Formats: sequence, C-alpha cells, structure tokens
Amino acid sequence: FEMTLIDAAGESRTLQVPEGQSLMQAAVSAGLRGIVGECGGSAMCATCHVYVDEAFGDRLPAPLATEQEMLECTASERRPNSRLGCQIKSSAALDGLVVRLPERQQ
Ligand code: FES
Repeated sequence: FEMTLIDAAGESRTLQVPEGQSLMQAAVSAGLRGIVGECGGSAMCATCHVYVDEAFGDRLPAPLATEQEMLECTASERRPNSRLGCQIKSSAALDGLVVRLPERQQ
C-alpha cells in the first residue's frame, strides 16, 4: 500500500509499504531523513513522530497507553493528529495515507 510522507520543507515522498510494515520501518529503509526510529519500533523513543493528515485520522486505531505516553516526549510540538510512525501499520484501510513530518525528532 502507498504512504506519502511530506517533510518539514514540503518535499514529499511516496513509498510502497507491504502490509503489516510500519511507516517508521518503511521510511528508515528508504533512507528518508525526518524519521529516526531510534528504539526500533517499540514506542520507546518518539523519534518517529508524524502528523497524520486529517482525512486519515479516523481510520487509525486509537493510540495505546504506551504511545500516548511517548507522544508527551516528542521533540517537536505535539498536535491532536500526532502519532508514532512505528505504531502505524500498513493496511488496505490506510492505503494512500499522508503524513507530515515535524521539524525535528530529537
Ligand atoms: Fe521509537 Fe517509534 S521508533 S517510538
């Protein structure tokens, strides 16, 4: 499925992400700057912070408590549409997902 990431400078990249893979993993394998993924995807670092496009907000499962807690620790401002990229898993329901990247992750 497709996921589009728009960085803080406005540059966008669309990635093909196999089902079940996380947005963070896809971005890191594609060498995308703007997503760090320091903890490897265990919702422990908040360096995979993204802002989910409003059109997709409802399609994502609500964040678990661990994700909620980490979102308190993001380097850039937390917004209502803030999520952790490692907790966003590719699926048919999210095909075409668009996220914006914060200015910094650390
Ligand atoms: Fe560490 Fe997502 S990769 S919280």
